[in-house]
Amino acid sequence: MKKMSEDSNSAILDSISSVTEGCRLPVLMNNGDDWPLAEIISIKDSDSKKQFYVHYIDYNKRLDEWVEEDRLDTRKIQYPRRDLASAATTGLNTPKKTLTGATNSRPSSPGLTPDPITGPSVLAALQQKQQKNRKRKLDHSESKSPPAQEEEVRRPSIGSSIGSSIGGLGDIEIPPLLTQQQSLPRQTGSLATHSDDHAITRIKNMKMIELGKYRIKPWYFSPYPQEITNLDCIYICEFCLKYRKSRKCLERHLQKCPFKHPPGNEIYRKGSVSFFELDGRKNKLYAQNLCLLAKLFLDHKTLYYDTDPFLFYVMTEYDARGYHIVGYFSKEKESSEDYNVACILTLPPYQRKGYGKLLIEFSYELSKFEGKTGSPEKPLSDLGLLSYRSYWKQTILEILIALKPQEGQEKPQLTINEICEQTSIKKEDVISTLTNLELINYYRGQYILTLNKDLVDSHKKIMEKRKIRIDSKYLHWTPKDWAKRGKW
Ligand code: ACO
Ligand code: ZN
Repeated sequence: MKKMSEDSNSAILDSISSVTEGCRLPVLMNNGDDWPLAEIISIKDSDSKKQFYVHYIDYNKRLDEWVEEDRLDTRKIQYPRRDLASAATTGLNTPKKTLTGATNSRPSSPGLTPDPITGPSVLAALQQKQQKNRKRKLDHSESKSPPAQEEEVRRPSIGSSIGSSIGGLGDIEIPPLLTQQQSLPRQTGSLATHSDDHAITRIKNMKMIELGKYRIKPWYFSPYPQEITNLDCIYICEFCLKYRKSRKCLERHLQKCPFKHPPGNEIYRKGSVSFFELDGRKNKLYAQNLCLLAKLFLDHKTLYYDTDPFLFYVMTEYDARGYHIVGYFSKEKESSEDYNVACILTLPPYQRKGYGKLLIEFSYELSKFEGKTGSPEKPLSDLGLLSYRSYWKQTILEILIALKPQEGQEKPQLTINEICEQTSIKKEDVISTLTNLELINYYRGQYILTLNKDLVDSHKKIMEKRKIRIDSKYLHWTPKDWAKRGKW
């Protein structure tokens, strides 16, 4: 039986065999009564039952999952129109941003789209190309080789095995950002912006990881070696981040593992919170394993193995068993775009407890020590955007509320540049925050900021709850000028 609805793309079908990859239909969401529209990404037969990997169109990919046919509403199936398939706007058929136009002081990663180059940038582009070729030669073996692990597991490669998990959070509403730049993705890095849209990397490949005392469901694909992605769980040493295929193997590893904290220098300690700074060149294996782990929770980044241009700041919580990793951020040694964070992550068991803001606060504290303003690398993830907006808002309000009028002045005065200097937040982000808060008014020829009592009161309440803060007295760090050093 086949009936056409008003929409020529829709058809009512009585058979599950008509469901193909790329088509869209309502799917019952896990733990809910909702039937949002979803796209079929992949189909597999397991135990004589068909399973469908679905992406809910208006939801984050964290919620993608394997479902059985009883959760598909085949009556409302929509087939991809061949002429529209490549121009789809919401689903995973949509190609990720292509990498064009971004100029970078550093050479591009192999395999990424080169920039269109015209006019005065030709010389710079030529130099960049020469540098690129030189670097490619140097990095050739390394950029292709995943971290070498001892004994039990073989080298990681882009794995294709299929695992299911629902380790996600609910969908979040994000208010429009007024001056969020449409900046172009960076071209190199440990976790560069997506360059491929390969079907394999769209599907979560890991069922579970065990890290210290936590079992965590991954959110996204990460290129761990295929032979371990088939397992129900992989076991990661929480101190050196090496991965093992069984708890027994991990126990054997732990007997030999000399570490109780991340490598590198402990540059901050207050109470039980510490930060370790490590160099992606000197601590390559750790940095690569950190990127593999981070990729499980970062969707909009593709993993590369060249960690040399980055520093990593790993935040830990101390107890009698050691320094347990809570989260981290990476930072380019030299950023031509003034990025002070490349990737940032709080591991899921620690999320929504204020650690993300602590990582962000720390990144700005480093920028203050450098005497620079900075901004996170774009694009931001949904959760990254929420966290940054909240941090910017709180930091700027803190300054505005504390401001006192100078002698002889009726009202306190402050320039945008002064806010930037005091916070190290980049000007665009300060302006977007003030605009989003609708604080800027134009009055009698000048801009004035008006804070209403409700905003001040709610800010004070929020800040009382924000207990853990970075205290610059405890930061023992001198910035390095990587440009002068000539090498990373
Ligand atoms: N839903 C709604 N709001 C959330 C959520 C969520 N799931 N998670 C965090 N937030 C909000 C919090 O409410 C808080 O805002 P508020 O204080 O105004 O209420 C703000 O975000 C920060 O919360 P924290 O507890 O300080 O942050 P957390 O430890 O959860 O870490 C982070 C935030 C790092 C973004 C975390 O969610 C994460 O690691 N996500 C996965 C990786 C990722 O997306 N990283 C950012 C990529 S962008 C880049 O790398 C430059
Ligand atoms: Zn170890």
